[in-house]
Amino acid sequence: MDFKHIVVEHQGTEAVALIRLNRPKQLNALNLELMDELAAALHELDNNAHVRVMVLTGNDQAFAAGADVTEMVNATALEMDLQNRFAAWNRISSVRKPIIAAVSGYVLGGGCELMLSCDMVVASETVRIGQPEIKLGVMPGAGGTQRLTRAIGKALAMELILTGRMMTADEALRLGLLNRVVPVECYLDEAMRLAKQVAEFSPIALMLAKQAVNHAFNSFLDEGLLFERKNFSLCFTGPDQKEGMQAFLEKRPPRFNTPATE
Ligand code: CAA
Repeated sequence: MDFKHIVVEHQGTEAVALIRLNRPKQLNALNLELMDELAAALHELDNNAHVRVMVLTGNDQAFAAGADVTEMVNATALEMDLQNRFAAWNRISSVRKPIIAAVSGYVLGGGCELMLSCDMVVASETVRIGQPEIKLGVMPGAGGTQRLTRAIGKALAMELILTGRMMTADEALRLGLLNRVVPVECYLDEAMRLAKQVAEFSPIALMLAKQAVNHAFNSFLDEGLLFERKNFSLCFTGPDQKEGMQAFLEKRPPRFNTPATE
């Protein structure tokens, strides 16, 4: 895969793919081309039978400082609407395999919304997370008002969105936005370690579990419980459930050999 604004690589194992946002001079500002590339790469990896988990990162200074303001400064409302600029975001949220964000430095605006679209987050101690769009005379447009509010509750989401204040790593960890905070030298290694741990498990069960957890975000409880039950039953259609349960009873490690896609 050859891209202009992102780099896709594998580190040691085929089961984990690493995607780096790569516009360092612009603090990884998310322009339309980058978002299209990111959606295309994630979908290609989603359909790659060898890949089980993706890690998405930027650099130490910035995961991403938001949508690219230079693309929007002179836009009219009609142009913004006709550009269909959120199509790539919808494609990213439809990725079935787990995505772990490894974030450091600025995680702002669309960068924060991209982090919120991932499934787990490993952060460096230097991280600064926020939705500063209000300072530009606009508001979050790529899911921030919905995903941040569901993640941390109304009062705090309202404060962050209405003041543009940045959170520290400690605050974001306490609020449940982050899984781990580690020194800046280690955040990518720690995310890769977590990804490799997850990649050991049945790829089918991982996808069904991700889908069901996300359903908790997008539905009311009764509907979510039905969805969870359906996916739980679906786990029994492939060989991984038999292998996992049999291995447990035989007191040996399981071998999950199902390809990550059919
Ligand atoms: N879009 C375009 N360019 C950006 C950018 C962005 N979101 N963020 C940073 N850059 C560029 C700067 O213009 C600058 O470019 P030049 O060197 O050519 O001048 C370069 O990246 C470095 O930035 P700064 O010189 O500003 O670096 P700093 O260390 O002084 O400040 C910062 C860092 C606080 C992150 C500051 O760059 C900043 O406030 N950026 C904008 C953050 C923001 O408002 N994000 C929300 C965007 S709108 C959005 O995301 C909408 C949505 O919901 C989808």
